[in-house]
Amino acid sequence: MTVRTAYLAGDGFVDELAHELGDAYLGHGRLLIAAGPPRLTAWAANVWLDPQEIVVASISDAATKLRALQRNWAVYAPRLHRRATLIQEQLPKVSAKPLVFSAPPPSAPLGSWTLLDAETILAAPHCSSPFPNGEIRFVEDRTGPPSRAYLKLWEALTLIGRRPAPGEICLDLGSSPGGWSGALQQMGTHVISVDRAALAPEIARLPSIEHRRESVFARRLAASPPFPARNSVTCSTTSTSSLGSNRVRIKQMLSASSFLRKAGIRGPGPRPSPG
Ligand SMILES: C[S@@+](CC[C@H](N)C(=O)[O-])C[C@H]1O[C@@H](n2cnc3c(N)ncnc32)[C@H](O)[C@@H]1O
Repeated sequence: MTVRTAYLAGDGFVDELAHELGDAYLGHGRLLIAAGPPRLTAWAANVWLDPQEIVVASISDAATKLRALQRNWAVYAPRLHRRATLIQEQLPKVSAKPLVFSAPPPSAPLGSWTLLDAETILAAPHCSSPFPNGEIRFVEDRTGPPSRAYLKLWEALTLIGRRPAPGEICLDLGSSPGGWSGALQQMGTHVISVDRAALAPEIARLPSIEHRRESVFARRLAASPPFPARNSVTCSTTSTSSLGSNRVRIKQMLSASSFLRKAGIRGPGPRPSPG
């Protein structure tokens, strides 16, 4: 049988994923199917490994066939939503509890399926993400942070399975109003928080956050590193739409890496996983 892989683009990134894959031959909403084994992609939220087409005669036949393959399933239903929901309702419930940031991701395998048409299911018992459609929902901190931006940092750290250890120095570029800086500070790190704009007062007053109100390209930022040599660093560069283009973002990252090099800081060594 020909090997193929299905890639579910992150919400709003289907064109980027199509461009990245180059040769996807079938599109189904945000799900793109390409020949061959799974590839590393930046724009896929979830990768469906070895998806199979299954012909189904009815809603209960679909549920029976899915259950025979695997226990836990997440549905992706860009079309035929009602029919897909009725099938999903006949499958075992998958916990919809939001994740506490410090908790490990679920370990049970989670398959993904979709209805290509009323009689054809595309199903993959194994996927790259243990979260339904690759989307993590966290128990949110509704009192501390000035915005919900910290959720992006939590998601990134959860997906890479690493987080800065207490005592580390973190350089947060483009940090205002301070969601990421506040989240890094909560992990016990010392944060150098750089932005031309001010931090929210509740973040600015936190201990261990040092705000530098300047451009991330500032000469003196690169010229006068404050760090003791060999401390490890997590660098979070945000600023997407406000910065305009990828070229600017790359320049910003290069500026940060030259800053860290001059400070005698090398890349982080192995760290314990979160938990
Ligand atoms: C999306 S916001 C960052 C949100 C922040 N990470 C948080 O968690 O609250 C982008 C920030 O980048 C800052 N920014 C853009 N270009 C910059 C530059 N060249 N130097 C410093 N800050 C910059 C903007 O002032 C803006 O506050």
